[in-house]
Amino acid sequence: MEWTREMKYRRIEDIDAMQYETLKINTENATWRQKYHIQPVTGLLNDPNGFIYHDGMYHLFYQWFPLGAVHGMKYWYHLVSKDLVCFESDDRTVDPDTRYDSHGAYSGSAFVVDDEIKLIYTGNHRTKEWTRIPYQIIATLTEDGVIKEKPFIEGPEEGYTEHYRDPKVWKMHGKYYAVIGAQRDNLTGTIVVYSSLDFKEWLFEGELKTRYENFGYMWECPDYFNIDGNDIVLFCPQGVEAQDDAYRNIYQSGYIIGAIDFNTLTMTHSNFEELDNGFDFYAPQTTVGRNDERILIGWMGLPDIHYPTDKDDWAHCLTLPRVLTVENGELIQRPIKALASRRMDSETKTIEVSQEQAIFTGKYYELLVYIESLSAEVLNIDLRVSDEEYTRLSYHTRTRSFIFDRTYSGALPENVEDTRRATVLKDDLKQLQIFVDESSVEIFINDGANVFTSRIFPSEDSDGVRVSSSDGQAKLTITKFNLK
Ligand code: FRU
Repeated sequence: MEWTREMKYRRIEDIDAMQYETLKINTENATWRQKYHIQPVTGLLNDPNGFIYHDGMYHLFYQWFPLGAVHGMKYWYHLVSKDLVCFESDDRTVDPDTRYDSHGAYSGSAFVVDDEIKLIYTGNHRTKEWTRIPYQIIATLTEDGVIKEKPFIEGPEEGYTEHYRDPKVWKMHGKYYAVIGAQRDNLTGTIVVYSSLDFKEWLFEGELKTRYENFGYMWECPDYFNIDGNDIVLFCPQGVEAQDDAYRNIYQSGYIIGAIDFNTLTMTHSNFEELDNGFDFYAPQTTVGRNDERILIGWMGLPDIHYPTDKDDWAHCLTLPRVLTVENGELIQRPIKALASRRMDSETKTIEVSQEQAIFTGKYYELLVYIESLSAEVLNIDLRVSDEEYTRLSYHTRTRSFIFDRTYSGALPENVEDTRRATVLKDDLKQLQIFVDESSVEIFINDGANVFTSRIFPSEDSDGVRVSSSDGQAKLTITKFNLK
């Protein structure tokens, strides 16, 4: 079906309750629905938004087009959770219902001000001539719903194009700050910074000055936080060329780490590193959790790609929440500990691997793998295996190269370069924590030193777990947890 502009900008209020119910039921019954990831009730999900912990409760929204698997009129769908493991829907959504967000309530963040949750986001407005005007909007999440204020920034500052969006807010030294993703008039991407004393009047402070003057044409979804004295800036540059194993996805999502002088907005920093080495990771957002830890959730998808679920009118999911730490100057990402509450029964095996060996079955589970010894050239762990299909993780001992291969995984997204993603590990492979769901794999390597996140679309009967090695021995201890 061809989605015309008119269809993409249809609002959920334009369909009747019965039609919406039908969409919901069709979505629930569609193939490749996840068992334990956040996925859209109907239609398309993209960026996580408004992620905040307040009064014993986490709030998390997602960008949502309710009526199909395309990027159309965007809402914020609202979820609440006590533990970031189980989420419940909340009907206080952010709807594109004013002149300023008439063509979508685009991405943004949340912050607690005077005990109230403030949402701060980009209203996407289009004129009759279809010219985009981005407005930055603040709203308050009250018991009864979302109350919007007039935009506090109207349009881009001088020197920037219409691509000016995704405000992320924090407080520091008695001041509120916001970073916004922007495109300069010379069509390069950057981040601009605003500040406010009262969360009402906002002052344009200027650009964050980094070494990356010319690094892609637009930077989406910026985030800033400090961990143990390290300033960390996340952003999603679009238009960066692939380099060997790096930057192989259509758009990138990564970070720079260093120190920002907030008087001059100058950052001295490391090279840009991708947060995730897999196929499907974008637009992450972080917040401070219950125990003051920094928690990240990303969109397990990318723009401008066709996914196998599109035909059933739904698309995408969010990643599992990860805790970020800085250890020996490196950013480490571990799945939140609370996920262990999903574990039910488990089975542990110690295996001397040589030829191909089937070890478990299952379609959604967690695997904990310890490498006891490894002299083999290559170690393979295959997931979702059947006679025709498998998803392969390979580790090459000599080069320390870790490869995720979905060539034989089943159905594949379209408009994606290649079917393998790889990276070179800093240390020898020692440990893996792998979360497999109906249509995704998240692999945490060496206790969070690297992560590979990818969607896969296998057949129903591809449910084996298999190991193999070549040219030598490998001894592994593997535990499989069934999850609820
Ligand atoms: C990133 C993004 C944001 C924008 C939102 C619209 O995926 O393009 O820049 O606010 O999605 O849905």
